[in-house]
Order: sequence, then structure tokens, then C-alpha cells
Amino acid sequence: MQTLPSWPYPNLVAHRGAGTLAPENTLAAMRVGASFGYKMVEFDAKLSQDQVAILLHDTDLERTTNGRGNAADHPYAALSTLDAGLWLAPAFRGEPIPTLEAVARYTVANNIACNIEIKPTPGLEAVTGTAIARQALHDWREAAVPPLLSSFSLTALEAAKQEAPSLPRGWITKTLDENWRQTLAQLGCVSIHLHHALLTKALVNDIHNAGFRVAVWTVNDPARAAELLRWGVDSVITDALDLIHAA
Ligand code: G3P
Ligand code: MG
Repeated sequence: MQTLPSWPYPNLVAHRGAGTLAPENTLAAMRVGASFGYKMVEFDAKLSQDQVAILLHDTDLERTTNGRGNAADHPYAALSTLDAGLWLAPAFRGEPIPTLEAVARYTVANNIACNIEIKPTPGLEAVTGTAIARQALHDWREAAVPPLLSSFSLTALEAAKQEAPSLPRGWITKTLDENWRQTLAQLGCVSIHLHHALLTKALVNDIHNAGFRVAVWTVNDPARAAELLRWGVDSVITDALDLIHAA
């Protein structure tokens, strides 16, 4: 068995801030996550038209804000006026789309570990990987643990590696082909982030034996989370903060 890379992260991670309990990818969500005892958050980051890094899952604004069109087609000044909370519940009315910088300030100050998912607008993979890695290196420079950068995009991960080789990287994938070890090695990844349905105990062992950590998403059944942790999965990313309790 190879030596496993350092993994200074909790074994439970709040997906998109607080799963479905607060508007995803907002500071309000981070606070709700913390109130449930979660010490690590996963969130999705991409660029505005003027290359300000913001939190947003989708390419377009419609589902989670009162804006229209693609985030990448609007300058940050316009995105900053949008409501990213009301879509979920009136109590969150007026919650803004946060900048990555604001999230860094909040999480570093509160000692909350971060998994920054680089979620580029299609076509902007390299520029997004570079910009987010550069900013993560700067904004988390005083963090107790470095942010874990992850992405489905191999191009974004390669760009992040070039820009900030010291920051740990994880490759998110929905499928596994026989080349997964080489892909992780080429990108200098510390971890693979898999949909939990792909996981077996044998696969957890294979990943660890190959020298990589494994995170799983999005696990909302407490019994399944317990099983995955028993198998040795390094981190479980969940929406169900109310059902799956942080130690
Ligand atoms: O980072 C794991 C997970 O968040 C990937 O899927 O669509 O929720 O960003 P998605
Ligand atoms: Mg994500």
C-alpha cells in the first residue's frame, strides 16, 4: 500500500453550504451548516464576466436567483444586486450571491475547512481554474488547513495545478474507467470524489492502495453514510445536515 496523502479534513462535509436547509452556495448556508456542527463546506465557484469569483452552481442564474441568463455574461456589479435566497424561502430574502473572497473571510475566521469545487462556465475551464486557484492561494493563506480544490473539469484541474501546485486537488467524476489512477496521478490529485452509488468496500481499498483519498457525494441516508465511513471513505458530502450528525 502506498502512503496516503495528508487529509486534514473532517469526515462530514456540508454540500453547497448547508445542503437543502438554506439557499445553496450562500453565506447564510455556511452559517446554517456551522449551526449543525459542520466544520467543512463544499461549494461551487465560477467567474463573473469581469472575472470576479462567485459562488453559483448552475451556469445560468434562473434556478437560484432572480437574475436571467448566464452568470458569465454579467459583471459582478450586476450579480451583486441579485437575490439568491428568496427562491428557497421568504426568510432568506435578500441573501446575495457571495464572492469567493467573502467566503474565504468567513470560513477562515470561523475555522471552517473548505472544498472549493471549480465549476467553470462551459468554455471557460482553464481561465476559471487559474483564477480560482490563484485566489484560493491568497485568500486562504492564513487558514488552518488549505482549501481542497476539486472539479469535474480536467482542464480546470490542470490549470489549478499550474497556478497553485501546493494546494490539494480532487477529481470529481460520475464514472470510473480503467485509467482513473493515471488521471489522478497526472493531475497531482490527492483525492477522487465519486458519486456514492459507485462505491464498494473493494473500491475504497483499491483507491487507498493506489495512494489516493476518496470523498463521496451526495449521501443523504444516515445508514449509507455510516456504511461508507465504516469502509474507510475519507469524507462524506451531504445535504442532510439534520439527519447526519457531525461528530
Ligand atoms: O463536489 C461534489 C458535488 O458537489 C458535485 O456535484 O452538481 O452538486 O456540484 P454538484
Ligand atoms: Mg458541487
